[in-house]
Amino acid sequence: KKSRWPTRDGAPPLVIAHRGASGYLPEHTLAAYELAVRMGADCIEPDLHLTRDGQLVAMHDATLERTTDAATRFAARNGGWRVADFSLEEIRQLAMRPQGSAALSVPGFQPSAAHPLRVPTLEEIILLARRLEAEGARAIGLYPEAKQPGPRLASHLLSVLSAAGYVGSDKVFLQSFDLDTVRNLGRRQQALGLGYRVVLLSGSANRLLAMDLAHIAGFASGVGINIRGEGMSRSFIEMAHAAGLTVHGYTFNEARAATALPEYRKFMGWGMDGVFSNYPDLALQARAAE
Ligand code: G3P
Ligand code: CA
Repeated sequence: KKSRWPTRDGAPPLVIAHRGASGYLPEHTLAAYELAVRMGADCIEPDLHLTRDGQLVAMHDATLERTTDAATRFAARNGGWRVADFSLEEIRQLAMRPQGSAALSVPGFQPSAAHPLRVPTLEEIILLARRLEAEGARAIGLYPEAKQPGPRLASHLLSVLSAAGYVGSDKVFLQSFDLDTVRNLGRRQQALGLGYRVVLLSGSANRLLAMDLAHIAGFASGVGINIRGEGMSRSFIEMAHAAGLTVHGYTFNEARAATALPEYRKFMGWGMDGVFSNYPDLALQARAAE
């Protein structure tokens, strides 16, 4: 086993369960998060949207119809299934639709949450994480993404995290594709000493080089990069490290071990600090083999 990795701090790369163990169970459900934790993932990743009544729910899309039965249950809304137009009470009624390789259950795994297969709030995810932490005696990282730009969602997010006792936690990563949101979160985190890491997402490493990594390091602790985007290379990771930034890559979505393991090994060998994976068990297997 490696004693020192080529990551920025020499620690093993983080395994971040992307939308939970979303290759196996419907994304962003308590069942998918719990499976990821039981597999041994370091962090769980909820994408976040605000409901009409100001609740943060875990959902990738701004609309409900891809991952839930909103289009049939609320057929009268006729095409307007935006998360922002629904109350939490309405969203709680929705059933998840499995996507991609995910099924509604995994043999041998029984989720412990009361409603494991519906759209959860951020608070419910935190409660689950706290319970699993107590059971497994290890801290679980939380990696929420602000999917709506602007201060409203960011403020709600910081309030929920503070109320849940995460102030001072280095296990919380905040991420967004929106530069202003990341700047805002980064400055507030620095001014308030919240302890969170703030990550700027980008589809391409070249875009970040053009923005100047040293500038980004003024308000963010790391960058999240599309592993198949332009400019992703070992030298990009080295430049980011030299600027003081960590690099987390998305999305490792290969289900077959024969192709997934070499891919993890390549990026981990380049010094990638974390991997967003739909199959956290495979990421952990690759890491353990190094
Ligand atoms: O947050 C990293 C990665 O999840 C970004 O892509 O579209 O899956 O949120 P997306
Ligand atoms: Ca995300």
